[in-house]
Amino acid sequence: MAPTFADLYGGPPAVTAAAPGRVNLIGEHTDYNDGFVLPAALPLKTTVELAPREDPMVRVWSAEFQEQRPQTFSIDRIVHAHDWTDYVRGLAWVLVERGLQRGFDVRVSSQMPAGSGLSSSAALLIAAGRAMRAAFKLSIDDVQLAQLARQAETGFVGAPVGIMDQMACSLADESSALFIDTRSLHYERIALPLGSPLLVIDSGVRHSHVSGEYRTRRDECARAAAALGVSSLREVSEDDLSAIDSLSKPLNRRARHVVTEDARVLATVAALRAGDLIEVGRLFYASHVSMRDDFEVSTPAVDALVEAARSIRGVYGARLTGGGFGGSIVALTEHSRSIAAGDAIINRQKRRFPSQARVLVPAA
Ligand code: GLA
Repeated sequence: MAPTFADLYGGPPAVTAAAPGRVNLIGEHTDYNDGFVLPAALPLKTTVELAPREDPMVRVWSAEFQEQRPQTFSIDRIVHAHDWTDYVRGLAWVLVERGLQRGFDVRVSSQMPAGSGLSSSAALLIAAGRAMRAAFKLSIDDVQLAQLARQAETGFVGAPVGIMDQMACSLADESSALFIDTRSLHYERIALPLGSPLLVIDSGVRHSHVSGEYRTRRDECARAAAALGVSSLREVSEDDLSAIDSLSKPLNRRARHVVTEDARVLATVAALRAGDLIEVGRLFYASHVSMRDDFEVSTPAVDALVEAARSIRGVYGARLTGGGFGGSIVALTEHSRSIAAGDAIINRQKRRFPSQARVLVPAA
């Protein structure tokens, strides 16, 4: 049995807070291009128990690494550990800027597999941020919390991510998708079809160069925008596709993905509002093809899951979700068929990739 907070630290936690992982329905690699995204919260959560201390020491422990003892650091001099605790360190680092003066003890537990593309890191940041907000009575609203979490990730952890994951983990719920304009941070909740027939399958594939590839894509998008004479790819639209096509390779394909993906987010929102799930499914598949061929962030095992979905009855559409290079797919299914469809997709994909794909949602 995992040690409790009291086992670890000799007393009860002062607060317990949780945050969900997210699944992005559509709008991938658009957030750092000032574009649109449409994530929803998962029923899988990360939980943080926390007790403030009188001194500047911080102790952190995670049930994922049960064999390890709590790690310690001081908020007076926050250094990197180059492991998962950098997220907690990064959050402390941004909160010290906002007046945090005392340390704390933390126990983390998560239902999310790391590396599955479902934002276990943003869920940890937001859960820890909620716990610290409550314990230290910080006046931070949910959007500010997302911004601080992102600052921790970009400024301290060193991952050049956009704002989608932190916004989703801070503001999304399971019954709706959060339609976010990442340029203004304006957001709107779009009701999901009743029964929320979303299926999430983890390919089990973990690419080891994710952060390097992600940074390369970001740079390519910035270079494409510069070549088009705009400050971000949000400034161009599908009307500009001929100018985009004449960019050098692969900037033309990268920009084409972003511009068509932004349009697909808007079309998905319209289709969800109209209850047209067939159209939502078509847009999912189109998004996948664009990520596979133009943005080149998919992998063969993930492609095989999406291909398998195409031939399964009751599946409207499927696509790679999250940053890519492995990770998970999201599928939209008929209400009563998500469990059977999940099993069928995995069985079919396993013929070619006897890997570790498994259904994460609906949870068994
Ligand atoms: C990762 C990043 C997000 C976003 C997605 C791709 O999840 O953290 O900011 O860029 O990739 O859509």
